[in-house]
Amino acid sequence: MSRPEIPQRAPFVMDCQPGKYAWCTCGLSQKQPFCDGAHSRLPE
Ligand code: FES
Repeated sequence: MSRPEIPQRAPFVMDCQPGKYAWCTCGLSQKQPFCDGAHSRLPE
């Protein structure tokens, strides 16, 4: 079993404008807390 990726051990505090955002749920993104497409490296 692989270990989970934990990008930060504290909350992300951000001011966000209304709109659509893709939150990273895999932990691999370099643009946390947003998805940068790095999840595509994960096996399906
Ligand atoms: S969900 Fe983590 S990089 Fe896309």
